Amino acid sequence: MSMNEIQIAQSSVETTELEEIPVNLEQEILFLKQSLNAVLLAHYYQESEIQDLADIVGDSLELSRRAATTDADVIVFAGVHFMAETAKILSPTKQVLLPDLNAGCSLAEGCPALLFKQFREQHPDHIAITYINCSAEVKALSDIICTSSNAEKIIRQIPEHTPILFAPDRNLGNYLIKKTGRRMLLWQGTCIVHETFSAKKILHLKTQYPQAKLIAHPECEEIVLNQADFIGSTSALLRHVQQSLEKEFIIATEVGIIHQMQKACPDKLFIPAPPEESCACNQCPYMKLNTMEKLYLCMKHRSPEITLSDELIRRARLPIQRMMEMS
Ligand code: 13P
Ligand code: SF4
Repeated sequence: MSMNEIQIAQSSVETTELEEIPVNLEQEILFLKQSLNAVLLAHYYQESEIQDLADIVGDSLELSRRAATTDADVIVFAGVHFMAETAKILSPTKQVLLPDLNAGCSLAEGCPALLFKQFREQHPDHIAITYINCSAEVKALSDIICTSSNAEKIIRQIPEHTPILFAPDRNLGNYLIKKTGRRMLLWQGTCIVHETFSAKKILHLKTQYPQAKLIAHPECEEIVLNQADFIGSTSALLRHVQQSLEKEFIIATEVGIIHQMQKACPDKLFIPAPPEESCACNQCPYMKLNTMEKLYLCMKHRSPEITLSDELIRRARLPIQRMMEMS
């Protein structure tokens, strides 16, 4: 390649990177949604502008259900990779777009399929109940998938003498052991967001806001959950603040959900639980990789797209279907 050719190649990469972004992104995204016959699914941890444009904002279970039943041609998933993969597994004939393919999850990354397979082989008599925050490969190696909103219900349906192996979140696992009284063998994964909340700082916050109730996602550490007045999935937390007569809440989950809480209850006070360090660690860095600009570009170019082999889809679908039947 000559010097000239190298320069042309470099400038064409720059042109792609510097693609023009329209001023009225909101309008453009709505236009593309209509022309693609797309449904836009968003998790509560997405930035508020994205939540406001979505057809549905929900927790992992609600978004999976919607992905399975949509009659749209394209599913645009404003969430993380494992969520978009689940949508593809449940709707394999649809095109599934994710604004940033790097939007991962520390729980999914901390449970590689090869190690999970070995873990299962070491405990062949155990049934594997796996949290939906895992890769399609790990789903395919599992017996039943669960989310934070149906895990307890599913575990209670497992015959008493069947040993259970639970992966990948040890905090959710320990919470479920306490709730159901079932012994379970736990994979030692954690969520980088929920493990950072400081129990000490929450205690201090409670002295500043003595009326405030602490509500927490079960991915939090036990020391935080022990202080909580209510524990539940993101949707359960949102429902709780709407139904409760209380006026002040400390929120121990990713801060993105406060947008919906504030919209639903403008007269109530929502205080984000503080992380251990003075950082923005109560924001999920993976979820926040999706931006309005990337959302627009992915719809415009119909890329990045989630692709999975038919074989993987077939294998990963079974444990998700079991979850749907049991929840
Ligand atoms: P929910 O299913 O409760 O929305 O949780 C998803 C998640 O990734 C929490 O960190
Ligand atoms: Fe994964 Fe934690 Fe982000 Fe949820 S908040 S997507 S569990 S890293």
